[in-house]
Amino acid sequence: MKSFTAALRILACAVLAVALWSMTGNVVRTTPALAHKGAHGVVKERMRLMKKMEKRLRLITKMEKGELPFDADAVHRRGEQLLKYARKIPRLFPRGSGAPPSEASARIWQDFAAFQAEGKKLEQAAMLLMQASAATLPDIARQLRAACKSCHEKYRVERD
Ligand code: HEC
Repeated sequence: MKSFTAALRILACAVLAVALWSMTGNVVRTTPALAHKGAHGVVKERMRLMKKMEKRLRLITKMEKGELPFDADAVHRRGEQLLKYARKIPRLFPRGSGAPPSEASARIWQDFAAFQAEGKKLEQAAMLLMQASAATLPDIARQLRAACKSCHEKYRVERD
């Protein structure tokens, strides 16, 4: 009986890992070691910030999928953190900081206001998260991921 439960647990972990992997596929296609190689200063700082945001999202996804019970305080705290991080984004992209190993697209500085608008989408989703209930969490989680993805599609380039 015990080993059956253990097997179920392993299976659940595997399912979750695959779900997370497919969810973040767009975000982590480049291995971190490669992406960080040679990164310094503001580029390193923003890569770190992005990683932190990714981490904050993980707990939300677990609750959304029912892997963890809904915890309003924890969720609302994540919302506050994501809002704080999102507000830092514009400052972390000074003009001329897009050279490799950065994956920032030059398009960011062609129309910085449009780039900032992408950050605002994330801020708005984070604010919703600060007041999320168990019922609204799935929809808000989708909005959060959509905000990350939307900006990455426009402003993040893949480097080999
Ligand atoms: C306003 C635009 C924008 C938003 C919103 C955004 N990102 Fe990013 N993200 C970028 C850009 C641009 C890069 C590439 C930065 C670089 O390499 O200099 C990046 C890189 C990353 C990386 C790779 C960091 C590394 O180590 O190389 C991760 C992970 C990431 N983002 C996660 C997220 C998550 C999760 C969210 C949503 C919660 C998010 N991002 C929201 C623009 C954005």
